[in-house]
Amino acid sequence: MPCVVVVGVQWGDEGKGKVVDLLAEEADVIVRFQGGSNAGHTLVVGGEKFIFHLIPSGILRPNKRCVIGNGVVVDPEVLLEEIRSLKERGYLQDDSQLLVSEAAQVVMPYHKAIDKGREGRSSKPLGTTGRGIGPAYEDKVSRVGIRVGDLLHEEVLRGKLERALEEKNPYLVHVLGQRGLDLDPLLEEMLRYGESLRPYIVNTSCFLAEEIARGRRVLFEGAQGALLDVDHGTYPYVTSSNTVAGNACCGAGIGPTQIDFVLGVVKAYTTRVGGGPFPTELRDGTGDYLRERGGEYGATTGRPRRCGWFDAVAVRHAIRVNGTGGLALTKLDTLTGLDRLRICTAYRLHGELIEEFPSGAELLERCEPVYEEVEGWKEELTGRRSLLELPAAARNYVERLQELLGVPFYLISVGAEREETFFLKDPFSEGR
Ligand code: GDP
Ligand code: IMO
Ligand code: MG
Repeated sequence: MPCVVVVGVQWGDEGKGKVVDLLAEEADVIVRFQGGSNAGHTLVVGGEKFIFHLIPSGILRPNKRCVIGNGVVVDPEVLLEEIRSLKERGYLQDDSQLLVSEAAQVVMPYHKAIDKGREGRSSKPLGTTGRGIGPAYEDKVSRVGIRVGDLLHEEVLRGKLERALEEKNPYLVHVLGQRGLDLDPLLEEMLRYGESLRPYIVNTSCFLAEEIARGRRVLFEGAQGALLDVDHGTYPYVTSSNTVAGNACCGAGIGPTQIDFVLGVVKAYTTRVGGGPFPTELRDGTGDYLRERGGEYGATTGRPRRCGWFDAVAVRHAIRVNGTGGLALTKLDTLTGLDRLRICTAYRLHGELIEEFPSGAELLERCEPVYEEVEGWKEELTGRRSLLELPAAARNYVERLQELLGVPFYLISVGAEREETFFLKDPFSEGR
């Protein structure tokens, strides 16, 4: 089936980049549809590491087209640096490999200043990535945003920037205690970015419609995860976009009837970066063990990720809101060396057992995890290439997760490298 959406079903950093790079071998087009450079998607190919913030994780595959859809908030400085670095490393030699929607919003320097300024002065910071994501989406919805296509039209851009600075500068200076921005240098900088991006800027919705009509395989790459979704996550400790599969349509300009399959990416334990409730968090030596073994440091900010046991309540919620048909299980190898493993199967809230993920951070903060314990294993898993090659305890863990989640695993990842993976089913062979 031609259109597959890949999304994170936890708090981000599930290994979406690795999974998309793998599946991209079979795809023709890879599309980002939401988020911005808050995302950090890591690929390890032949011992070389790549981190992508905006460019889809299919870009290392020759002859694949990569699309940044209208739903993304694009920081042109970050995008141009990614393009430069890829070209220097011998990739993206053909500019037609990358397409950027003319309707995508631009993350402006004042968005980043507002994001950082608010976080710095808040008594309860969200722990954002400081990439200007929230303020950029605010402007989009307020209908005062600047779109990528505007960067190509000096007069249009000047008018929009004048109006923006009239509001942003007093806010930056008087409310946030930051420096204001001058129109002329900002306009010049943005026009320069526009010129550099000109070869990539197109109507990506039209491009995708044609590709789909030709029967090409399209892979949609989610950023963040369902628990960071602005509607379905742990509000207000969320990002500012809909991260769920449904938004692949709005964020790429295709219709819901064109999506054939949703693959959720799930880590074999849980991590979270930034603030907000996290019922299965381990603030002890086991949490440190997972962080060190799993290299759990943010790909965008370098912050240590908070680590905890697998939370089946949260993932079941994420599976539902995404319409997830299958899962990719990642980082099973990180769990090696723990005597016993815990899986959260329900929460206790006000003395009652609940199996549904509560809506909003306030209730979730009060939830106590209810665990079942299973045996751990000592063997390294990185070289294993099938369920049968796994030690019995690891196989039992996978089977138990599958039972609790009610959705089949399509692939299992046992290391960061592309090859350190095995498939159980092929997501492109699935119908709705
Ligand atoms: P994303 O944001 O969902 O793409 O995930 P990140 O790239 O932020 O974080 C996942 C990290 O785990 C990256 O450093 C990957 O290279 C790494 N990784 C992915 N899959 C595996 C795996 O199965 N085992 C191990 N050990 N590392 C993995
Ligand atoms: P990928 O795509 C993990 C988190 C931030 C913060 C909250 C809001 O790599 O999985 P924002 O800057 O979006 O306003 O921050 O969301 N966050 C992520 N956490 N992975 C990500 O992306 C994230 N993108 C944002 O840490 O808690
Ligand atoms: Mg990441």
